[in-house]
Amino acid sequence: MTDYLPGFGNHVSTEAVPGALPIGRNSPQRPPHGLYAEQLSGTAFTAPRAENRRSWLYRLRPTAQHPAFTRYDGAPLFKTAPFDAAPPSPNRLRWDPLPMPTEPTDWLDGLVTTGGTGNVAEQSGVGIHGYAANADMERAFFSADGELLIVPQHGRLQIDTELGRLDVAPLQIALIPRGVRFRVALPDGEARGYVLENYGALLRLPDLGPIGANGLANPRDFETPVAWFEDVDAPTQIVQKFQGGLWQTSLDHSPFDVVAWHGNLAPCRYDLTRFNTINTVSFDHPDPSIFTVLTSPSDTPGTANCDFVIFPPRWMVAEDTFRPPWFHRNVMSEFMGLIAGAYDAKEGGGFVPGGASLHNQMNGHGPDQATYDKASTAELKPVKIDGTMAFMFETRHVVRTTEWANSSPTMQLDYDDVWTGFPKAQLPK
Ligand SMILES: [Fe+2]
Repeated sequence: MTDYLPGFGNHVSTEAVPGALPIGRNSPQRPPHGLYAEQLSGTAFTAPRAENRRSWLYRLRPTAQHPAFTRYDGAPLFKTAPFDAAPPSPNRLRWDPLPMPTEPTDWLDGLVTTGGTGNVAEQSGVGIHGYAANADMERAFFSADGELLIVPQHGRLQIDTELGRLDVAPLQIALIPRGVRFRVALPDGEARGYVLENYGALLRLPDLGPIGANGLANPRDFETPVAWFEDVDAPTQIVQKFQGGLWQTSLDHSPFDVVAWHGNLAPCRYDLTRFNTINTVSFDHPDPSIFTVLTSPSDTPGTANCDFVIFPPRWMVAEDTFRPPWFHRNVMSEFMGLIAGAYDAKEGGGFVPGGASLHNQMNGHGPDQATYDKASTAELKPVKIDGTMAFMFETRHVVRTTEWANSSPTMQLDYDDVWTGFPKAQLPK
């Protein structure tokens, strides 16, 4: 059982051994118990105070004490933008869920990249990955390329990090800062889900504007683990992702040796069922941005490097309104996944939990025929959409897909068919 501290990006202090945390200074000449003080920066030293994220860690050994890294040849489908092996596709694309591996495969080696945007070297864009795994990680991993937003769809994850342990189940998410070492165990024996690797500005809660001080994801519902460590002098493999390359080295001890820490940069988890959903109570749709959980801004105000948006259970009460997501073309690009249930724009099937779809910029999409027929003739009583959780990674750049995604047997070659057969509108004679 893990204890958590509430809040997102707020300053917290936690110690697993009484007296381990220095008081009044960050790097005393001799930290308590002979621990080593180490700063972990999530933003540039000089980032404005409101944006500045960093934590001070007090550990048994400094992170710097490690041999040279050499290339790691696992995780063969874990890739990094730019994805320029093939021209980006304007086509609407959809995939079945990743199959479970037939050989023992841990969370790291089970990562499969569908695509992404931008360029890791320029610190803009995202990588979009899935995972399917059936073995606990014995090694530790960190991405030097971006923070990781993990969205479990099937099976719980126990994520041990340098700053504490996270228990994460489907309908919860985890956010692991860039550079933080972690390992993933599978309490249910197998697991599948999605990962957003954010090369850009740190994810944060969106501004609320006229909504006011409350609503959407409330800061206190994010949970940061208390300090936890293991004092283990046994060989441990560390794998890092650095500018897309995978590298490994071996420590003679556990990297999970942070006895105490304080600061505002830390892993956290969030329960999506705590999202305070806001929607219309008169007519028409707000844009789906009303369901934004976290956003990574770009240099252009209001135009995100990536938004994480969910479609949670909610009451539908709009009058004289086509209630499901409408037909549209978007200047942003939309990658969608389904955690549970059915998505209300795809009643015709094909978009199943664990699956994914991609609608790149300016290409028309929207309800399938079954959804349109039902929703355009339904009696508009208040209706609760329940037992569902879809999500979207919405980015300002076109999502380029990987060679795996383009040739995978999970790709549905007949996806365009969901929009065939709409009868032509009949104008009055
Ligand atoms: Fe869309």
